[in-house]
Amino acid sequence: MTKLEGIRACVFDAYGTLFDVHGPIRKLAVEIGENADAISKLWRQKQLEYTWLRSLMGVHADFWHVTGDALDYALEFHDVNEPGLKDELMALYLKLEAYPEAKDALEAVRGRGKMTAILSNGSPSMLDAAVRSAGLDKLFNFVLSVEDVGIYKPSRRVYRHAMQKLSLHEAPSICFVSANTWDAQAAAQFGFQVVRVDRFGLKDDRIPGKPAALVKDLSELAGLI
Ligand code: 2OP
Repeated sequence: MTKLEGIRACVFDAYGTLFDVHGPIRKLAVEIGENADAISKLWRQKQLEYTWLRSLMGVHADFWHVTGDALDYALEFHDVNEPGLKDELMALYLKLEAYPEAKDALEAVRGRGKMTAILSNGSPSMLDAAVRSAGLDKLFNFVLSVEDVGIYKPSRRVYRHAMQKLSLHEAPSICFVSANTWDAQAAAQFGFQVVRVDRFGLKDDRIPGKPAALVKDLSELAGLI
């Protein structure tokens, strides 16, 4: 297995990497009905699409707004209009479950003397709620939101922001960790040493940037740095 040299900090993507974005729909699958899985996938797809489109359009709105818009689309597309369902799903989005291995993996990385941070599209209040509800709030030196930059990943400005906040002047001293192929590859293209978490059996996208390592979950991370 590849060993990443010279790592000072591990910086984590949040949604899909640390937190399970499909939890809310799974919890309400009975009320939602047979299209629950398709709605969850479409919700996530539109949430990301809207971040990319808004960044290219130059019309920023925060991740809470975008997540709500994407949910509206997914529910309308599948003709689901149960009163109160949207609010219930959005409330669940503030307390997503962390993946089971996340807490131990963060403690193992910190046990090796590395800084840990989140670098996410999430708004500060969304991320604060998520790390607290998952019991991870004491395990990060920094929780960084794109709201500090005003544009979404994969803008280079976002990855550069993490270097500035961590006071690290060499990009390869950061191990960036993401389960989102486009995020992992953009971060690699930017200059981070990247570990992609292969939670969803995805292939590398045909865009620039190649992760240094592929792991099945976060438990393998500490052994790499
Ligand atoms: C995040 O920025 C990419 O949605 C993912 O946390």
